[in-house]
Amino acid sequence: MGAKSHKPSKAQAELVPNQLKDLPIALTAEECRGKTYIVTGANGGLGYEATKHLVRLEAAKVIIGVRNAEAGKAAKSTIEAETNRKDKIEVWDLDLASYGSVKAFAKKVESLERIDALVLNAGALISAWEVKEGNESNITINVMSNFLLAVSVLPHLQAIAKQHEIKPHLVFVGSVGGLFTGEQVKKFSKTDILDDLNDQAKWKRDMPDRYTVSKFLEHIATRELAALVPVSESGVVINVVDPGMCKTNLTRNVSFFDRIKGWLAKAAMGRTAEMGSRTLIHGIAASEESHGKYLTACEIREDHIPEWMTDESGKVLQKQIWTELAERLDKIQPGVVAAIIQN
Ligand SMILES: NC(=O)c1ccc[n+]([C@@H]2O[C@H](COP(=O)([O-])OP(=O)(O)OC[C@H]3O[C@@H](n4cnc5c(N)ncnc54)[C@H](OP(=O)(O)O)[C@@H]3O)[C@@H](O)[C@H]2O)c1
Repeated sequence: MGAKSHKPSKAQAELVPNQLKDLPIALTAEECRGKTYIVTGANGGLGYEATKHLVRLEAAKVIIGVRNAEAGKAAKSTIEAETNRKDKIEVWDLDLASYGSVKAFAKKVESLERIDALVLNAGALISAWEVKEGNESNITINVMSNFLLAVSVLPHLQAIAKQHEIKPHLVFVGSVGGLFTGEQVKKFSKTDILDDLNDQAKWKRDMPDRYTVSKFLEHIATRELAALVPVSESGVVINVVDPGMCKTNLTRNVSFFDRIKGWLAKAAMGRTAEMGSRTLIHGIAASEESHGKYLTACEIREDHIPEWMTDESGKVLQKQIWTELAERLDKIQPGVVAAIIQN
């Protein structure tokens, strides 16, 4: 990676103006009517608001993946009351801190006859060093489990695409913060990056940046996954959205000082969760052109991707991260990665 390159391009320059935009709701009832969607982490925050939009827009079914069944049921009944539409939401168990739970969720997804979009929204910002499924927990939850779910269900999405002649969407919810991690990426080891990120002695002091590092990994791995399964072959559109800075509970686990800083920034320019959720709706609505691309403020903005992610060394890094991730996914679920290419 070139030393010149760690400037975050236009993303930083447009951060504030983007935050202040009034975003469109990119789907209409005509487009949503009769369709089936899955939104993970939808008991609160952006996922909840996106689900409410989809139900209001007359989706036939919205499955919400939640780790707390009671919170999921409460979200379902509030949305039903607010939209006056009953029995459109199903609450399914999903804990991204457990591969067993992810596998069970993916298996259930395979029973669905139709899926128009799976929005991989669930995510966590954990500032303490915790280990889940053998990895630091931000990596397990935001990266490993989201990709385990994505690749597990991709063959089924591909089959649905053919059967129904539709283009199901696989929407990853990333973060612009992932594009600002150049200094952390410089500290990555040359080989075995994912193993190295579990080295507590090396990385513990960098925990304030760990969430954005996990989002960087999500962005770069999504780009490689999309390159491996072009829409022309798979029929599935894969994109990654940045919801912007939103007034949700995401920062509930950070230190008191960081919470105050976050609260001040959000008070100045944070989107409401509802406004932020429009970016998720845009990810679902975006055309094939969005495949493998970065979406922010309801636009495809590849020009926001910093050069260090796309230049020659960035491309090498992208392949390396994908290879390491794929090897790990294959250990968790043998054959899972090969299945997406064979289909
Ligand atoms: N808010 C922002 O400013 C912002 C900015 C950029 C990106 N994002 C991304 O947007 C997405 C939604 O976040 P949000 O802002 O809406 O935050 P949020 O209100 O904290 O919602 C996160 C959702 O993910 C769920 N979740 C967390 N850990 C989980 C696990 N182990 N298994 C299953 N579900 C889990 C949460 O469930 P519980 O309620 O049970 O914890 C919750 O439903 C995340 O991917 C986040 O990284 C947010």
